[in-house]
Amino acid sequence: MEQKHLNYKDTINYGSYYTPEWIVEIVYDFLSKHIKTLNEYFIIDTSCGYGAFLRGEKTIGADIDEVALFIAKKNNPRCTYFKQNSLLNVSRTQYKLSNKDKIIIVGNPPYNDTTSIIRNKIKQKNFLRDYDINSRDLGISFLLSYNKIQADYVCILHPLSYLIKKTNFESLGDFKKNYKLIDSMIISSGVFSETSKSTYFPIIIAFYERNLNGMNYDYICNYTFKTYEGKTFCIKQYDKISNYTTKYPNQKYVSKNETIAYFWTMRDINALKRTKTFVREESYNTIRVTKKNLPYYCYVDIFKDYIPHIPYYFGNCDIMIINDEFLKIKEYFLRKSLEKNPELSKYIICSNEFAYSNDIIEKYFKNLLGEHYVD
Ligand SMILES: C[S@@+](CC[C@H](N)C(=O)[O-])C[C@H]1O[C@@H](n2cnc3c(N)ncnc32)[C@H](O)[C@@H]1O
Repeated sequence: MEQKHLNYKDTINYGSYYTPEWIVEIVYDFLSKHIKTLNEYFIIDTSCGYGAFLRGEKTIGADIDEVALFIAKKNNPRCTYFKQNSLLNVSRTQYKLSNKDKIIIVGNPPYNDTTSIIRNKIKQKNFLRDYDINSRDLGISFLLSYNKIQADYVCILHPLSYLIKKTNFESLGDFKKNYKLIDSMIISSGVFSETSKSTYFPIIIAFYERNLNGMNYDYICNYTFKTYEGKTFCIKQYDKISNYTTKYPNQKYVSKNETIAYFWTMRDINALKRTKTFVREESYNTIRVTKKNLPYYCYVDIFKDYIPHIPYYFGNCDIMIINDEFLKIKEYFLRKSLEKNPELSKYIICSNEFAYSNDIIEKYFKNLLGEHYVD
């Protein structure tokens, strides 16, 4: 059921984008595939909305939103419900459970950068959280809360960026120390029809097992991700631009004398889609480009043009590169970037004999992306 009772601002504040049935199916497929004695477990959704994930007898649903809970109760009266802020006073007793009970967490917790929450009618107290599960992102706080109640398994949806962006991964704190990603499937944020932004990002349906060794970032880099569309990829497979040049403002290290151009700060591929590349004015968000590293910035400038050929699931990845291949054909990138940025003409000298070919660049991107190239 689509969420119908909240206005636009409250929908954003609560992160109330409800999950379609076919995604709930995938979660339950993971549970039955990996857990032999499912009936021994309490299944809990601590942000249950209308209760899309609540099935069977031993299920518990909680939500901060009273109206949503009212509808959930009508949909599934056999389940036990709690109206609460699930991030405050987190414990098993909150759900009337003891340390002996076996617990599986399911659901689609809200994700939201809490520093940018549009506080509308929602009172400040709704955003209070236990200090030990505090995070900038609401979704990360939810992951930490699952660790706090020591769930045996966690099978939920969350942005893939929590795992693949190193700073996010580090902020998973005790969750990453105690849980290991065992199975997963990547889907596009586009499946949530209400999030009608043009840039879709990858969401992972992740099945985690409580595990003494947890997982480290290297584990994630070597992990083979599967997408709903039947593709697979591994972060380690790709080399990235930050191994060759800086993505961030470098005024401290590069003098004005050496600077020949300015380039907008780079983040992930989705951010590059929205931002500028070469800019004329220096600012806090610009990188000083030197003669030596100019080719790499021209590379990014052209990479931006090829983003329509990159699938949504790479949206939060760094800008990829095959350095050896690029170096062999860098003149083509320079020439193409020069067409877009005539002010670079002082630094990019192209001889008249040079036969420009777009095919060479296209071939490079087809090779870089392989089966992932979107036609
Ligand atoms: C993405 S929706 C998911 C709803 C439902 N599980 C589904 O998938 O259809 C997130 C839900 O989290 C609830 N929520 C947000 N903050 C909460 C909090 N601090 N405690 C409990 N529930 C919260 C919202 O009211 C909303 O129903």
